[in-house]
Amino acid sequence: MGRKVKFGIVGTGEIAKMHAEALKGMSNAVLVAVYDKVEERAQSFAASYGVRALSSFDDFLNDPDIEAVTIATPTGIHAEVAIPVAQAGKHILCEKPLDVTLEKADSIIHACSQNKVFLASVFQSRFARSVQAIKNAYDAGRFGKIVLASTQVKWYRSQEYYDSAGWRGTWALDGGGALMNQSIHTIDLLLYINGDPSETFGYCGILSHENIEVEDNLCAVVKYQNGSMGTIEVSTSCAPGFPRRLEISGTNGTAVMQDDQIICWNFVDNNDSDASILAECGAGEGLHGGSGDPMAIGHAGHRQQLSDLAEAIINNREPFLPGTEGRRAVKFICGIYESCRTGQPYKFEED
Ligand SMILES: NC(=O)c1ccc[n+]([C@@H]2O[C@H](COP(=O)([O-])OP(=O)(O)OC[C@H]3O[C@@H](n4cnc5c(N)ncnc54)[C@H](O)[C@@H]3O)[C@@H](O)[C@H]2O)c1
Repeated sequence: MGRKVKFGIVGTGEIAKMHAEALKGMSNAVLVAVYDKVEERAQSFAASYGVRALSSFDDFLNDPDIEAVTIATPTGIHAEVAIPVAQAGKHILCEKPLDVTLEKADSIIHACSQNKVFLASVFQSRFARSVQAIKNAYDAGRFGKIVLASTQVKWYRSQEYYDSAGWRGTWALDGGGALMNQSIHTIDLLLYINGDPSETFGYCGILSHENIEVEDNLCAVVKYQNGSMGTIEVSTSCAPGFPRRLEISGTNGTAVMQDDQIICWNFVDNNDSDASILAECGAGEGLHGGSGDPMAIGHAGHRQQLSDLAEAIINNREPFLPGTEGRRAVKFICGIYESCRTGQPYKFEED
């Protein structure tokens, strides 16, 4: 039997269940321990999965059995947890968003690089077959000159969702609303497929929820570094929640993805591979985005991420989605927020 990387989880709330489910039965990774600042929560989680609960963060950090850690705490606490984990020499899979500001995201990347541990960012949608098909067609130049790259995320989160934990809907711990929390996956796909933005202009507002600081609706226009343009429309007000859409159009073709299904795949030079791509990607893989329920996402994508990080550790290679990729999405989103705040277009600085 091959080697299994031993994982621990910090933060045993909702998404941690996906991590633990994903780790069940994996050939190259296994869950061994968990920690939560609410001890009873960690204990009952540990009992459900037959693993150890550590009663202090220091005990977790000093546990020699834990080689890699998934960070599943509220977003604004990711750096606070990740930096000591890196200093303890443990590799990291950090939930999205990497943290709530670029400075905090950078502090995680820096700590991991200083301590020579791998950092992988969670964006489970990237592993979908449809995303890979669009990315391959893009890289092969099949779209021609890219002109438009857009997304629509008309999702729904109830008032109870925002009320369910004190950190939700706050700038300090959630880092933003419909864009930063819910739509960051699709923002990552735009970046992954079409590259970085050069300029943006946005409007946002709180239109249907109470007692939240962050936006529940946002619209932005974007110019990309490759010369293309696009729109971003996101919401957590659209009951009951609709599949997210991603559209890439060039002078020679257009692809439209709805959740993980390709619903339009049309090129000027359609070829023999297109029928099989449509057959493979038209039905999707059941990797739903959580349009109305944050936990209705399945754990297949997380399993691929965990497996990739385990392989990276075993073979000493970079993970497929390193921390720098998580940073790109935070940079894009913070730029849109800055435009919304100032009422002016925001120009992205080159790194
Ligand atoms: N990849 C996805 O699709 C996806 C989906 C949902 C949430 N998330 C992300 O996962 C993270 C957690 O979200 P959630 O919905 O599971 O939150 P949650 O509130 O359900 O769980 C967070 C847990 O972290 C614990 N915690 C808080 N501070 C801590 C600390 N300093 N040390 C240890 N534990 C601490 C809390 O007690 C709680 O149990 C967020 O960053 C969120 O954006 C990702």
